[in-house]
Amino acid sequence: MNVDFQNCLILILLCLLSFLCYSFFFKKPKDGFNLPPSPPSLPIIGHLHHLLSLFMHRSLQKLSSKYGPLLYLHVFNVPILLVSSPSIAYEIFRTQDVNVSSRDFPTNEGSLLFGSFGFGTAPSSGLKHSRGHKKSVQRSYYLNLLDKAVKKESVEIAEEAMKLVNNTVCQMIMGRSCSEENGEAERVRGLVTKTDALTKKFILAGILRKPLQKIGISLFKKELMDASCKFNEVLEKILVEYKEKVEEHHQGTDMMDKLLEVYGDEKAEYKITRDHIKSLFVDLFFAGTDTWTHAIQWIMAEIINNSYILERLREEIDSVVGKTRLIQETDLPNLPCLQATVKEGLRLHPPVPLVLRTFKEGCTIGGFYVPEKTTLVVNGYAMMRDPEYWEDPQEFKPERFLASSRSSQNDEIRDELLKYLPFGNGRRACPGANLAYISVGTAIGVMVQCFDWEIKGDKINMDEAPGKITLTMAHPLNCTLVPRTLIPVTSTVQIPSS
Ligand code: HEM
Repeated sequence: MNVDFQNCLILILLCLLSFLCYSFFFKKPKDGFNLPPSPPSLPIIGHLHHLLSLFMHRSLQKLSSKYGPLLYLHVFNVPILLVSSPSIAYEIFRTQDVNVSSRDFPTNEGSLLFGSFGFGTAPSSGLKHSRGHKKSVQRSYYLNLLDKAVKKESVEIAEEAMKLVNNTVCQMIMGRSCSEENGEAERVRGLVTKTDALTKKFILAGILRKPLQKIGISLFKKELMDASCKFNEVLEKILVEYKEKVEEHHQGTDMMDKLLEVYGDEKAEYKITRDHIKSLFVDLFFAGTDTWTHAIQWIMAEIINNSYILERLREEIDSVVGKTRLIQETDLPNLPCLQATVKEGLRLHPPVPLVLRTFKEGCTIGGFYVPEKTTLVVNGYAMMRDPEYWEDPQEFKPERFLASSRSSQNDEIRDELLKYLPFGNGRRACPGANLAYISVGTAIGVMVQCFDWEIKGDKINMDEAPGKITLTMAHPLNCTLVPRTLIPVTSTVQIPSS
């Protein structure tokens, strides 16, 4: 037989390539197991196009309403379990909490952002933050808004909210606000915004990492390292200045003092490095700042669009707090309407619409087999707008939470449902939830108590911005403020007599 050696080699190479393509891209894990139903997919890329959608949470919501609330997706050969059902979410967080307590994102050695020292990407954590909230930050938030109101300047709520949130996080960590004078605060805010853009890419990189690593591609590493370097610069400066101040006069009681104490202690049981401290700050700045800023903006926009809620909140605040002092966090338990408004805002506009985890081991969920290393995506956005579980789910109706939040929580446990999860659930749930409820509540309280809000047009446009990982308003909320009550706080603002 006459065999052309070159053709034979090409044939062998083609066979090898097909085998590699099959095992990298096509081969479904655990063939033969009773996997959850899977919607139609595209060749090779599987369901990747849904994850690349500019509104990923809504694209996945559509998929679930068409094909069911428990779906098995794949991107190349990476398996993903998509959950949009309160009863399945309940089952997962009650029976598989430890199994899904990792996120299995790529740990980026040497990076402060999503690096191996941060706790967002760490294998597991039990961190709980204090409820620390500094009155002085809230007062300066009020004075800042008042200043703009008096000057009749238009106010971009997201910008002001971000200053408030950043200062609160800085106060919590190091007992002082980020300095506006030397540009420190501006730099931190800029980095937080940049980090949000990177997160979406990072999530994709997490899902696509394994198939792409096999062919030698590492996604977004350079962008990540650039942002990490910039954070490093700002944080190094803060650390050095802080240490100098401590040596001069400061009596250490802040989180930073405690961390520096352990860092400097040669005999400490658990040795922490400077990178540990910086990564923790990056996580707090990032996880706390953006979510909370957007929550304030969405909720305030809903209140302005629904004047009956504004009136109701004012009545409540005026009768409990009065008009001569600023609302404070200790008032919140006596302001059920305000609390319900915050809860409803987080239901309709959850800043983190998708919760991501990884199944460490194979298990059974809803009667189906879920293979080990499957990425879990819980679509909180879809669940909190599911007409089967919420009356008028698209409407902003704080009344639904007025019946008493405790009893609705008990209802969920009795019915074995998890339908309200703006902060995730289980051991990796958001550790900042209490702080967020308090801080968002008081910020909204100040805005409602002290100002009238004028907008251009009749209604605020509530569209979502495309391509964001944190739920963001497409048209930032811009208002002109008119002082409603004059609260006597120490101020340099000159209030004109009317
Ligand atoms: C309205 C404000 C906030 C919302 C909606 C929110 C939401 C979330 C969600 C959904 C998660 C994922 C939970 C899960 O996987 O089950 C999360 C994680 C996290 N949040 Fe928040 N968050 C907010 C504010 C904060 C604040 C103020 C802080 C701290 C200052 C914070 C720190 C964190 C951290 C560190 C994680 C990662 C926890 C871990 O992986 O163990 N968050 N947040």
